[in-house]
Amino acid sequence: MFTIALIARKGGSGKTTLGVQLALAAHLRGLHVLIADLDPQRSAIEALRPRQALGPQTVATTGLKLAGLQMEALSQGCDLMLIDTAAGVAEDGAKAIVLADLSLIVVRPTYLDLAAAIESVLMVRRLHKPLLLVLNQAPAPRDGVEAPAVRRALKALSVLKQPIAPTIIRARQVYQSSLETGRGAEEAGHPIAAQDIAELLAFVRHAPAETRRRAG
Ligand SMILES: Nc1ncnc2c1ncn2[C@@H]1O[C@H](COP(=O)(O)OP(=O)(O)OP(=O)(O)O)[C@@H](O)[C@H]1O
Ligand SMILES: [Mg+2]
Repeated sequence: MFTIALIARKGGSGKTTLGVQLALAAHLRGLHVLIADLDPQRSAIEALRPRQALGPQTVATTGLKLAGLQMEALSQGCDLMLIDTAAGVAEDGAKAIVLADLSLIVVRPTYLDLAAAIESVLMVRRLHKPLLLVLNQAPAPRDGVEAPAVRRALKALSVLKQPIAPTIIRARQVYQSSLETGRGAEEAGHPIAAQDIAELLAFVRHAPAETRRRAG
């Protein structure tokens, strides 16, 4: 079983959106997926409520119960556990980071998100755990050229010398509607968004061994 924690100190960066999209993409590929919702807002559970028993499985949890839930998921043959955390990366967030094989730090290409990303990176690094930065809500490139905000963000993130997901997730309406309907980009008939999510899923699941070793 592979466990991913979705992390961001900054609220609204897209932790729940990406967690739900990754969960749905993995579920459609036949994986047994569990979303552990650590956020008291229970947004991931709310977003997947329309699916009811059609999966992926969702569980409301707390930092104290998280390790037990992970053991249970493992014993039930779960392939992928996604932990959706609340903004701020408090104590519960640290527990998610410790239990996860990879912390996915979700960052928008804005100044405040980038400043917050530095704090998230430092936190994961202090815990000696692997991380991957992913840009979300990025404007689409024009004529193959990234918008200045995206170029600035990539440059700022590169200074951190941490792995950055090669797939940039764009600002798209389909991701907003998926939180209402519980349908992923693929089911909603958006092949470009679906491909981006599939690429991100493949990358995080098979994150190069080096990415994990760097946690040292
Ligand atoms: N790639 C995207 N394109 C368009 N809208 C997006 C995208 N990612 C997230 N959003 C929207 O941004 C808002 C915040 O997203 P989301 O709830 O996933 O963030 P979060 O990090 O989980 O927030 P919180 O810190 O409150 O838990 C939502 O309205 C969501 O639909
Ligand atoms: Mg959320």
